[in-house]
Amino acid sequence: MTHLKRAIRIGNREIKNRLVMAPIATEKSDAGKVTRALLDYYDERTKGGYPGLIVIEHSFIRSDGRAGVNQLSVSEDSDIAGLSRLADTIHKNESKAVMQISHAGAAARKEAVPFETISPSGIANPNKALRPGELQDTHEMSRNEIDGVIQAFTEAAIRVKKAGFDGVELHSAHGYLLNQFYSPLTNKRTDEYCGSTVDGRIALHIRIIQAVRATVGADFPLGMRLGGCDYTVGGSTVADAAAAAPKLVAAGLDFMDMSGGMCFYIRAGHSEAGYFGDLSKSVKDVVSVPVIVAGGVTNGADAEKLLTENIADMIAVGRAISRNPAWAKEAMEA
Ligand SMILES: Cc1cc2nc3c(=O)[nH]c(=O)nc-3n(C[C@H](O)[C@H](O)[C@H](O)COP(=O)(O)O)c2cc1C
Repeated sequence: MTHLKRAIRIGNREIKNRLVMAPIATEKSDAGKVTRALLDYYDERTKGGYPGLIVIEHSFIRSDGRAGVNQLSVSEDSDIAGLSRLADTIHKNESKAVMQISHAGAAARKEAVPFETISPSGIANPNKALRPGELQDTHEMSRNEIDGVIQAFTEAAIRVKKAGFDGVELHSAHGYLLNQFYSPLTNKRTDEYCGSTVDGRIALHIRIIQAVRATVGADFPLGMRLGGCDYTVGGSTVADAAAAAPKLVAAGLDFMDMSGGMCFYIRAGHSEAGYFGDLSKSVKDVVSVPVIVAGGVTNGADAEKLLTENIADMIAVGRAISRNPAWAKEAMEA
Protein backbone atom coordinates (compact mmCIF):
# COMPACT_ATOMS: atom_id res chain seq x y z
CA MET A 1 0.00 0.00 0.00
CA THR A 2 2.93 2.31 -0.67
CA HIS A 3 0.96 4.80 -2.73
CA LEU A 4 -2.26 4.61 -0.73
CA LYS A 5 -0.42 5.47 2.49
CA ARG A 6 1.27 8.52 1.09
CA ALA A 7 0.10 11.92 2.41
CA ILE A 8 -1.26 14.59 0.08
CA ARG A 9 -2.25 18.24 0.42
CA ILE A 10 -5.66 19.63 -0.49
CA GLY A 11 -5.35 23.38 -0.31
CA ASN A 12 -3.75 24.07 3.06
CA ARG A 13 -4.85 20.76 4.63
CA GLU A 14 -2.57 17.76 4.91
CA ILE A 15 -4.49 14.52 4.26
CA LYS A 16 -2.59 11.62 5.75
CA ASN A 17 -3.33 9.07 3.04
CA ARG A 18 -4.99 8.70 -0.37
CA LEU A 19 -8.08 6.82 0.75
CA VAL A 20 -11.34 8.79 0.61
CA MET A 21 -14.66 7.69 2.04
CA ALA A 22 -17.02 8.58 -0.82
CA PRO A 23 -20.25 10.43 -0.11
CA ILE A 24 -23.09 8.00 0.52
CA ALA A 25 -26.54 9.38 1.33
CA THR A 26 -27.42 7.57 4.55
CA GLU A 27 -30.87 9.14 4.95
CA LYS A 28 -30.20 9.07 8.68
CA SER A 29 -31.07 12.70 9.30
CA ASP A 30 -34.31 13.81 10.92
CA ALA A 31 -35.93 16.89 9.37
CA GLY A 32 -32.50 17.66 7.89
CA LYS A 33 -30.73 17.62 11.26
CA VAL A 34 -27.80 15.45 12.38
CA THR A 35 -28.98 12.50 14.49
CA ARG A 36 -27.25 10.09 16.87
CA ALA A 37 -27.54 7.39 14.19
CA LEU A 38 -25.76 9.60 11.67
CA LEU A 39 -22.95 10.41 14.12
CA ASP A 40 -22.55 6.71 14.93
CA TYR A 41 -22.42 5.81 11.23
CA TYR A 42 -19.51 8.19 10.58
CA ASP A 43 -17.81 7.38 13.88
CA GLU A 44 -17.75 3.64 13.12
CA ARG A 45 -16.31 4.16 9.64
CA THR A 46 -13.60 6.60 10.69
CA LYS A 47 -12.38 4.77 13.83
CA GLY A 48 -8.59 4.76 13.75
CA GLY A 49 -8.60 7.48 11.09
CA TYR A 50 -8.07 4.98 8.27
CA PRO A 51 -9.75 6.94 5.48
CA GLY A 52 -7.63 10.10 5.29
CA LEU A 53 -10.55 12.11 3.92
CA ILE A 54 -14.31 11.76 4.34
CA VAL A 55 -16.73 13.38 1.92
CA ILE A 56 -19.96 13.79 3.86
CA GLU A 57 -23.09 12.83 1.94
CA HIS A 58 -24.95 15.36 -0.20
CA SER A 59 -26.67 18.02 1.86
CA PHE A 60 -29.29 20.42 0.54
CA ILE A 61 -28.46 24.12 0.40
CA ARG A 62 -32.06 25.33 0.25
CA SER A 63 -35.39 23.63 0.91
CA ASP A 64 -36.44 23.71 -2.77
CA GLY A 65 -33.26 21.78 -3.63
CA ARG A 66 -33.98 18.86 -1.38
CA ALA A 67 -33.46 15.49 -3.08
CA GLY A 68 -35.30 13.40 -0.48
CA VAL A 69 -37.10 13.80 2.84
CA ASN A 70 -34.35 12.30 4.99
CA GLN A 71 -31.54 14.23 3.35
CA LEU A 72 -29.11 16.16 5.53
CA SER A 73 -29.54 19.95 5.53
CA VAL A 74 -27.00 22.73 5.31
CA SER A 75 -29.74 25.21 4.46
CA GLU A 76 -30.21 26.93 7.83
CA ASP A 77 -27.95 28.44 10.46
CA SER A 78 -29.68 26.17 12.99
CA ASP A 79 -28.02 23.21 11.18
CA ILE A 80 -24.55 24.36 12.22
CA ALA A 81 -24.59 22.97 15.78
CA GLY A 82 -25.36 19.41 14.63
CA LEU A 83 -22.90 19.63 11.76
CA SER A 84 -20.21 20.73 14.23
CA ARG A 85 -20.80 17.55 16.21
CA LEU A 86 -20.33 15.57 12.98
CA ALA A 87 -17.05 17.38 12.18
CA ASP A 88 -15.85 16.83 15.78
CA THR A 89 -16.66 13.11 15.63
CA ILE A 90 -14.51 12.66 12.53
CA HIS A 91 -11.70 14.88 13.80
CA LYS A 92 -11.59 12.97 17.07
CA ASN A 93 -10.85 9.89 14.96
CA GLU A 94 -8.09 11.85 13.18
CA SER A 95 -9.54 11.95 9.69
CA LYS A 96 -10.31 15.10 7.71
CA ALA A 97 -13.81 15.82 6.40
CA VAL A 98 -15.35 17.95 3.67
CA MET A 99 -19.09 18.37 3.21
CA GLN A 100 -20.81 17.91 -0.10
CA ILE A 101 -23.42 20.59 -0.76
CA SER A 102 -26.10 20.33 -3.43
CA HIS A 103 -29.24 21.65 -5.02
CA ALA A 104 -31.31 18.90 -6.62
CA GLY A 105 -33.00 21.10 -9.25
CA ALA A 106 -35.28 18.93 -11.39
CA ALA A 107 -34.08 15.83 -9.52
CA ALA A 108 -35.93 16.83 -6.34
CA ARG A 109 -38.54 14.23 -5.51
CA LYS A 110 -42.19 15.29 -5.18
CA GLU A 111 -42.35 14.06 -1.61
CA ALA A 112 -39.45 16.38 -0.68
CA VAL A 113 -40.35 19.40 -2.83
CA PRO A 114 -44.14 19.56 -3.26
CA PHE A 115 -44.04 22.44 -5.77
CA GLU A 116 -42.50 23.11 -9.19
CA THR A 117 -38.73 22.73 -9.20
CA ILE A 118 -36.08 24.85 -10.92
CA SER A 119 -33.83 23.61 -13.72
CA PRO A 120 -31.78 25.11 -16.56
CA SER A 121 -34.35 24.44 -19.27
CA GLY A 122 -37.48 23.01 -17.67
CA ILE A 123 -36.54 19.48 -18.74
CA ALA A 124 -37.46 16.53 -16.54
CA ASN A 125 -34.37 14.73 -15.31
CA PRO A 126 -33.38 11.97 -17.76
CA ASN A 127 -31.47 10.07 -15.09
CA LYS A 128 -33.08 6.65 -15.17
CA ALA A 129 -32.22 6.06 -11.52
CA LEU A 130 -34.94 8.59 -10.72
CA ARG A 131 -38.40 7.27 -11.49
CA PRO A 132 -40.44 9.81 -13.51
CA GLY A 133 -43.49 9.43 -11.22
CA GLU A 134 -41.37 10.62 -8.29
CA LEU A 135 -40.32 13.84 -9.95
CA GLN A 136 -41.98 17.22 -9.62
CA ASP A 137 -42.76 19.48 -12.58
CA THR A 138 -39.95 21.87 -13.41
CA HIS A 139 -39.43 25.24 -15.08
CA GLU A 140 -36.53 27.08 -16.74
CA MET A 141 -34.66 29.27 -14.29
CA SER A 142 -34.78 33.05 -14.60
CA ARG A 143 -31.65 35.14 -14.07
CA ASN A 144 -32.92 36.05 -10.61
CA GLU A 145 -33.33 32.39 -9.76
CA ILE A 146 -29.77 31.73 -10.96
CA ASP A 147 -28.45 34.54 -8.74
CA GLY A 148 -30.44 33.08 -5.85
CA VAL A 149 -28.81 29.67 -6.27
CA ILE A 150 -25.34 31.25 -6.24
CA GLN A 151 -26.26 33.00 -3.00
CA ALA A 152 -27.61 29.78 -1.48
CA PHE A 153 -24.44 27.82 -2.33
CA THR A 154 -22.35 30.62 -0.80
CA GLU A 155 -24.37 30.73 2.43
CA ALA A 156 -24.24 26.94 2.74
CA ALA A 157 -20.46 26.95 2.25
CA ILE A 158 -20.10 29.46 5.08
CA ARG A 159 -22.14 27.19 7.35
CA VAL A 160 -19.82 24.29 6.47
CA LYS A 161 -16.83 26.42 7.43
CA LYS A 162 -18.49 27.59 10.66
CA ALA A 163 -19.25 23.96 11.57
CA GLY A 164 -15.51 23.25 11.53
CA PHE A 165 -15.13 21.03 8.46
CA ASP A 166 -11.91 20.95 6.43
CA GLY A 167 -13.54 22.02 3.22
CA VAL A 168 -16.58 21.96 1.00
CA GLU A 169 -17.40 19.99 -2.15
CA LEU A 170 -19.89 21.39 -4.68
CA HIS A 171 -22.05 18.59 -6.10
CA SER A 172 -22.21 18.67 -9.88
CA ALA A 173 -22.75 14.99 -10.59
CA HIS A 174 -25.47 12.32 -10.74
CA GLY A 175 -28.12 14.49 -12.35
CA TYR A 176 -28.50 17.22 -9.72
CA LEU A 177 -28.86 20.92 -10.55
CA LEU A 178 -25.25 21.78 -11.42
CA ASN A 179 -25.02 18.59 -13.45
CA GLN A 180 -28.21 19.65 -15.25
CA PHE A 181 -26.39 22.82 -16.33
CA TYR A 182 -23.30 20.82 -17.37
CA SER A 183 -25.12 18.18 -19.42
CA PRO A 184 -26.26 19.06 -22.95
CA LEU A 185 -29.16 16.65 -22.38
CA THR A 186 -30.74 19.04 -19.86
CA ASN A 187 -29.23 22.40 -20.75
CA LYS A 188 -30.87 23.88 -23.85
CA ARG A 189 -30.38 27.50 -22.83
CA THR A 190 -29.29 30.09 -25.36
CA ASP A 191 -28.02 32.79 -22.97
CA GLU A 192 -24.56 32.94 -21.35
CA TYR A 193 -25.36 29.61 -19.61
CA CYS A 194 -26.01 28.02 -23.01
CA GLY A 195 -26.04 24.30 -23.56
CA SER A 196 -24.25 24.49 -26.91
CA THR A 197 -20.75 25.16 -25.52
CA VAL A 198 -18.75 23.79 -22.59
CA ASP A 199 -18.11 27.39 -21.48
CA GLY A 200 -21.85 28.04 -21.35
CA ARG A 201 -22.51 24.81 -19.49
CA ILE A 202 -19.97 25.68 -16.77
CA ALA A 203 -20.70 29.40 -16.53
CA LEU A 204 -22.87 28.91 -13.43
CA HIS A 205 -20.25 26.64 -11.86
CA ILE A 206 -17.62 29.33 -12.33
CA ARG A 207 -19.82 32.02 -10.78
CA ILE A 208 -20.52 29.75 -7.78
CA ILE A 209 -16.85 28.83 -7.31
CA GLN A 210 -15.84 32.49 -7.45
CA ALA A 211 -18.59 33.57 -5.07
CA VAL A 212 -17.87 30.80 -2.57
CA ARG A 213 -14.13 31.41 -2.76
CA ALA A 214 -14.61 35.14 -2.19
CA THR A 215 -16.68 34.35 0.91
CA VAL A 216 -14.83 31.44 2.55
CA GLY A 217 -11.40 32.91 1.80
CA ALA A 218 -8.29 31.49 0.17
CA ASP A 219 -7.47 29.12 3.03
CA PHE A 220 -10.62 27.00 3.05
CA PRO A 221 -10.44 23.97 0.72
CA LEU A 222 -13.03 23.98 -2.04
CA GLY A 223 -13.64 21.19 -4.52
CA MET A 224 -16.20 19.91 -6.95
CA ARG A 225 -17.63 16.51 -7.72
CA LEU A 226 -18.07 16.65 -11.47
CA GLY A 227 -20.23 14.15 -13.29
CA GLY A 228 -17.87 14.68 -16.16
CA CYS A 229 -19.38 12.32 -18.72
CA ASP A 230 -22.92 11.07 -19.31
CA TYR A 231 -21.70 8.03 -21.28
CA THR A 232 -24.78 8.33 -23.46
CA VAL A 233 -25.53 9.58 -26.97
CA GLY A 234 -25.90 13.36 -27.04
CA GLY A 235 -24.61 13.70 -23.48
CA SER A 236 -21.47 15.20 -22.00
CA THR A 237 -18.16 13.56 -22.95
CA VAL A 238 -14.76 12.86 -21.43
CA ALA A 239 -13.37 15.56 -23.75
CA ASP A 240 -15.89 18.05 -22.30
CA ALA A 241 -14.60 17.25 -18.80
CA ALA A 242 -10.99 17.77 -19.89
CA ALA A 243 -11.97 21.13 -21.40
CA ALA A 244 -13.98 22.19 -18.35
CA ALA A 245 -11.64 21.09 -15.57
CA PRO A 246 -8.81 23.63 -16.01
CA LYS A 247 -11.36 26.47 -16.13
CA LEU A 248 -13.12 25.24 -13.00
CA VAL A 249 -9.80 24.91 -11.19
CA ALA A 250 -8.68 28.36 -12.36
CA ALA A 251 -11.89 29.80 -10.88
CA GLY A 252 -10.79 28.61 -7.43
CA LEU A 253 -10.96 24.85 -6.83
CA ASP A 254 -8.47 22.96 -4.66
CA PHE A 255 -9.54 19.48 -5.77
CA MET A 256 -11.72 17.65 -8.27
CA ASP A 257 -13.73 14.52 -7.58
CA MET A 258 -14.72 12.66 -10.73
CA SER A 259 -17.90 10.62 -11.18
CA GLY A 260 -20.68 10.04 -13.71
CA GLY A 261 -23.27 12.52 -14.90
CA MET A 262 -26.73 11.50 -16.06
CA CYS A 263 -25.60 7.86 -15.83
CA PHE A 264 -25.46 8.40 -12.04
CA TYR A 265 -22.52 6.82 -10.19
CA ILE A 266 -22.65 3.68 -12.31
CA ARG A 267 -21.49 3.03 -15.85
CA ALA A 268 -23.44 0.60 -18.02
CA GLY A 269 -21.42 -2.49 -18.86
CA HIS A 270 -18.66 -1.67 -16.37
CA SER A 271 -18.01 -2.94 -12.89
CA GLU A 272 -14.21 -3.03 -12.83
CA ALA A 273 -12.28 -1.13 -10.18
CA GLY A 274 -11.95 2.48 -11.36
CA TYR A 275 -14.70 2.33 -13.97
CA PHE A 276 -14.54 6.14 -14.29
CA GLY A 277 -10.75 5.99 -14.64
CA ASP A 278 -10.78 7.23 -18.25
CA LEU A 279 -12.50 10.36 -16.99
CA SER A 280 -10.27 10.98 -13.97
CA LYS A 281 -7.10 10.32 -15.99
CA SER A 282 -8.14 12.82 -18.67
CA VAL A 283 -8.78 15.43 -15.99
CA LYS A 284 -5.64 14.60 -14.01
CA ASP A 285 -3.59 15.17 -17.17
CA VAL A 286 -4.77 18.79 -17.44
CA VAL A 287 -5.03 20.07 -13.84
CA SER A 288 -2.49 20.42 -11.06
CA VAL A 289 -4.86 19.97 -8.09
CA PRO A 290 -5.57 16.51 -6.61
CA VAL A 291 -8.09 14.44 -8.55
CA ILE A 292 -10.26 11.88 -6.76
CA VAL A 293 -12.04 9.00 -8.49
CA ALA A 294 -14.67 6.56 -7.18
CA GLY A 295 -16.24 3.50 -8.71
CA GLY A 296 -15.92 -0.22 -8.26
CA VAL A 297 -13.07 -0.38 -5.75
CA THR A 298 -13.64 -3.28 -3.37
CA ASN A 299 -10.17 -3.91 -1.91
CA GLY A 300 -6.99 -2.04 -1.06
CA ALA A 301 -4.98 -3.66 -3.84
CA ASP A 302 -7.38 -2.20 -6.45
CA ALA A 303 -6.96 1.26 -4.96
CA GLU A 304 -3.17 0.90 -4.86
CA LYS A 305 -3.11 -0.21 -8.52
CA LEU A 306 -5.16 2.78 -9.68
CA LEU A 307 -2.74 5.11 -7.91
CA THR A 308 0.28 3.31 -9.36
CA GLU A 309 -1.21 3.68 -12.83
CA ASN A 310 -1.72 7.42 -12.27
CA ILE A 311 -5.47 7.16 -12.84
CA ALA A 312 -6.12 9.59 -9.97
CA ASP A 313 -4.40 11.11 -6.93
CA MET A 314 -6.87 9.76 -4.38
CA ILE A 315 -9.25 6.83 -4.45
CA ALA A 316 -12.78 7.09 -3.06
CA VAL A 317 -14.67 4.03 -1.86
CA GLY A 318 -18.42 4.16 -1.33
CA ARG A 319 -20.43 0.98 -1.12
CA ALA A 320 -17.68 -1.21 0.33
CA ILE A 321 -17.17 1.14 3.30
CA SER A 322 -20.89 1.66 3.67
CA ARG A 323 -21.43 -2.11 3.93
CA ASN A 324 -18.41 -2.85 6.13
CA PRO A 325 -17.44 -0.17 8.67
CA ALA A 326 -14.04 -1.87 9.15
CA TRP A 327 -13.27 -1.87 5.40
CA ALA A 328 -10.78 1.02 5.52
CA LYS A 329 -8.85 -0.49 8.43
CA GLU A 330 -8.71 -3.88 6.72
CA ALA A 331 -7.62 -2.35 3.41
CA MET A 332 -4.94 -0.12 4.91
CA GLU A 333 -3.51 -2.86 7.12
CA ALA A 334 -3.54 -5.56 4.42
C1 LIG B 1 -26.76 4.52 -1.47
C2 LIG B 1 -25.82 5.45 -2.18
C3 LIG B 1 -25.84 6.79 -1.87
C4 LIG B 1 -24.96 7.68 -2.52
N1 LIG B 1 -24.98 9.00 -2.16
C5 LIG B 1 -24.15 9.86 -2.78
C6 LIG B 1 -24.09 11.24 -2.41
O1 LIG B 1 -24.74 11.68 -1.46
N2 LIG B 1 -23.29 12.06 -3.13
C7 LIG B 1 -22.51 11.59 -4.17
O2 LIG B 1 -21.81 12.37 -4.80
N3 LIG B 1 -22.50 10.29 -4.49
C8 LIG B 1 -23.28 9.43 -3.82
N4 LIG B 1 -23.22 8.10 -4.14
C9 LIG B 1 -22.18 7.62 -5.08
C10 LIG B 1 -20.91 7.20 -4.32
O3 LIG B 1 -20.27 8.31 -3.74
C11 LIG B 1 -19.90 6.50 -5.24
O4 LIG B 1 -19.51 7.39 -6.24
C12 LIG B 1 -20.49 5.26 -5.89
O5 LIG B 1 -21.10 4.43 -4.92
C13 LIG B 1 -19.41 4.46 -6.65
O6 LIG B 1 -18.36 4.10 -5.80
P1 LIG B 1 -18.29 2.61 -5.15
O7 LIG B 1 -18.25 1.64 -6.30
O8 LIG B 1 -17.04 2.62 -4.32
O9 LIG B 1 -19.53 2.43 -4.33
C14 LIG B 1 -24.08 7.20 -3.50
C15 LIG B 1 -24.06 5.84 -3.81
C16 LIG B 1 -24.91 4.96 -3.15
C17 LIG B 1 -24.85 3.49 -3.46
